[in-house]
Amino acid sequence: MIFRQLFEAQTSTYSYLLACKRTRRAVLIDTVATEIDHYIALLESLDLQLVFTLETHLHADPITGAGLLREKLGSKSVVHRDAGAQCADLMVTDGVTLQVGELEFEVRHTPGHTGGCVSYVMADRVFSGDALLIDGCGRTDFQQGNAAQLYDSITGKLFSLPPDTLVYPGHDYHGNTVSTIKQEVAKNSRLGGGRSREDFIAIMQSLNLAYPKYIDQALPANHSCGSAAALG
Ligand SMILES: [Fe+2]
Repeated sequence: MIFRQLFEAQTSTYSYLLACKRTRRAVLIDTVATEIDHYIALLESLDLQLVFTLETHLHADPITGAGLLREKLGSKSVVHRDAGAQCADLMVTDGVTLQVGELEFEVRHTPGHTGGCVSYVMADRVFSGDALLIDGCGRTDFQQGNAAQLYDSITGKLFSLPPDTLVYPGHDYHGNTVSTIKQEVAKNSRLGGGRSREDFIAIMQSLNLAYPKYIDQALPANHSCGSAAALG
């Protein structure tokens, strides 16, 4: 397997490149529109063909590069059925498996940050988007956010993965790059250490977070896969 973790500093977003060594077929998870020249150069240098752009959800901050990559490379954009992106090529639901060469991605519906959030499980790792972050979780106060639902998603669909599963989140604001399920079950300050659903809901209700900086531009653009028209 070929694997790269990519970071976009303005929105502290992680994107991921995964590819099958044998077939050279590749996916990018949670792309950022401003980075597409970098992705294309990277794909070319590794001799890879981009098959899918996978979205963990419709972001409030970075604008997705899915539409631009589809125009330039013919890749297909994948989102959950409830994400609200009618422009996507493939609407997935819980339990769907995507095959990319020898790589298999299992879709787990993990709503709560947004209604259409998914995590992608691939072999020994999970791409948890903004559901489970390292020592944190996504906010639940907009985009159909629901703290009770997020608790159930994380404890039911992610904490049940094998303890050594690597956790690759959608963002990190503290310089962390990767965690494990074991580490988050034990130490996540919002849900780890056996914290109760009621405690978690109380924590989420008391956060008083600022309005997301780029949401007014990013959300409308992301509903149309961040296409060139929407960006203009
Ligand atoms: Fe998000």
